Amino acid sequence: MAQCAANKNTFLAKPFTLLIFGGSGDLSQRKLLPSLFHLFQQKLIKRFSILALGRREFSDDAYRKLMKKALREFADFKFTAQELNDFLRFLHYQVVDINNADSYKALCERTTLLAKNDKERNLLYYLAVSPKSAEQIIKGLAKRSLCRQEKNAKIIMEKPFGRDEKSAARLNAFILQEFDEHQVYRIDHYLGKETVQNILFLRFANTIFEPLWNHEHIANVQITVAEQLGVENRAQFYEQAGVMRDIVQNHIMQLISLVAMEPPVGFAADYIRDEKVKLLRSLRPMTRAEIIKNSVIAQYSGGVIAGKKVPAYRREHGIARDSTVPTYFAGKFYIDNWRWEGVPFYVRTGKRMAQRATEIVIEFKQPPQQLFGKECAGLKPNALILTIQPTEEIKLCFSVKYPGPENRPHVEKMQFNYQDVFHTVSLSAYERLLIDAMRSDLTLFTRADEVEILWSIIDPLIKVWERRRNYQLPQYKAGSWGPSVADLLLERDGFKWQIR
Ligand code: BG6
Repeated sequence: MAQCAANKNTFLAKPFTLLIFGGSGDLSQRKLLPSLFHLFQQKLIKRFSILALGRREFSDDAYRKLMKKALREFADFKFTAQELNDFLRFLHYQVVDINNADSYKALCERTTLLAKNDKERNLLYYLAVSPKSAEQIIKGLAKRSLCRQEKNAKIIMEKPFGRDEKSAARLNAFILQEFDEHQVYRIDHYLGKETVQNILFLRFANTIFEPLWNHEHIANVQITVAEQLGVENRAQFYEQAGVMRDIVQNHIMQLISLVAMEPPVGFAADYIRDEKVKLLRSLRPMTRAEIIKNSVIAQYSGGVIAGKKVPAYRREHGIARDSTVPTYFAGKFYIDNWRWEGVPFYVRTGKRMAQRATEIVIEFKQPPQQLFGKECAGLKPNALILTIQPTEEIKLCFSVKYPGPENRPHVEKMQFNYQDVFHTVSLSAYERLLIDAMRSDLTLFTRADEVEILWSIIDPLIKVWERRRNYQLPQYKAGSWGPSVADLLLERDGFKWQIR
């Protein structure tokens, strides 16, 4: 049988033409262009054109200059001046007024010119814009027959996809009038992270974990997405989104669905997406009283991060002085199916936390009888810790005998670290997702029904917290692990956050 050796060429993209709406914006400068540059440097993309689109006036040269500066600042890999200049030659810019029909005519002509070497017309439209602008753009593209009629056209949409279930459903219906579902790539960049994908490998490429992966053996699951960053220069966006729409509806829920879903019948996109949807459907809905009891929101006050004083959220540039937008969420969820009956899934996420850490802890049940450790703090439960950031690791924690006559248990770890084991260049989340979109692989993108179900889970929480009258939003100190009330969530059930 052939060996499963990694083959770089499987990633080689066909010629393509990428149109980026919001081409001079923050996301393009920080993530998209650096990712495309890295793919180019790694020779994974060779024949392509990038047409950046925006309201601001730039000539091609002026745009390339702007991007040269951005790439020097944000590309986090080593490159030569020659490589940078070679890449910049693939960049083009055009002003668009997304409300003006003539703009789309000009765009159409320019696209045809740029795509002249791309015989299959692999057109990718990246919409790094708000959902409202996205609708306008889709209308404009449709008028010029740049949607379904272009059989190799794809549309890539940034999150958040809509603001709630209703708006997401409306946006889906709108897009699907002009594109087929297989042309739509809804991004959640967490799905592009190697270690997030590794959750599925760990579970389904091994036989030793799956028999334990259920309520009989697992006491609880703890998911932490902690950031040290504050709101940065995204005040306008964040004031509208808050932590629920920015992180919980998407990144946290995706992590829950990968940890908890049933094995798919195959690795094709829809097999995996079907299982995720099935799992999300079985998340237990909560009443208003349960939401208030089982979840916590909070906002950061001033504090110290990595030895530097940082302001309170309400003192950040562009934030209302009396803003009640939450930057922290902790909550407890249950999944009503045979596998997970009674197992609490604790999640927490926040900006300006003590540490940057994205981690999933699977805490196992204690042995039925406590033979050891009665005289000290007791036996610590076994835990499997999947660290997604800042390092990429898997740790299995178990008790061993501490040397000596006392029969004292001691917790040790077996540890796997990606960087130590694999010395290959790994792709960042955005690089992986861009490559997948070019290769027409939809596995790591969110399907229409999935995105709507995700909102249907989160909408009730947002409603309860947004509409709570006379509510004093708890504050937590920047640089801390969040408000102390969040600990109560677990303490009531007799658990502790494994990661502090
Ligand atoms: C984005 C959010 O989706 O994820 C940001 O909009 C957040 O607010 C970011 O900072 C975190 O991503 P990562 O990959 O750094 O964990």
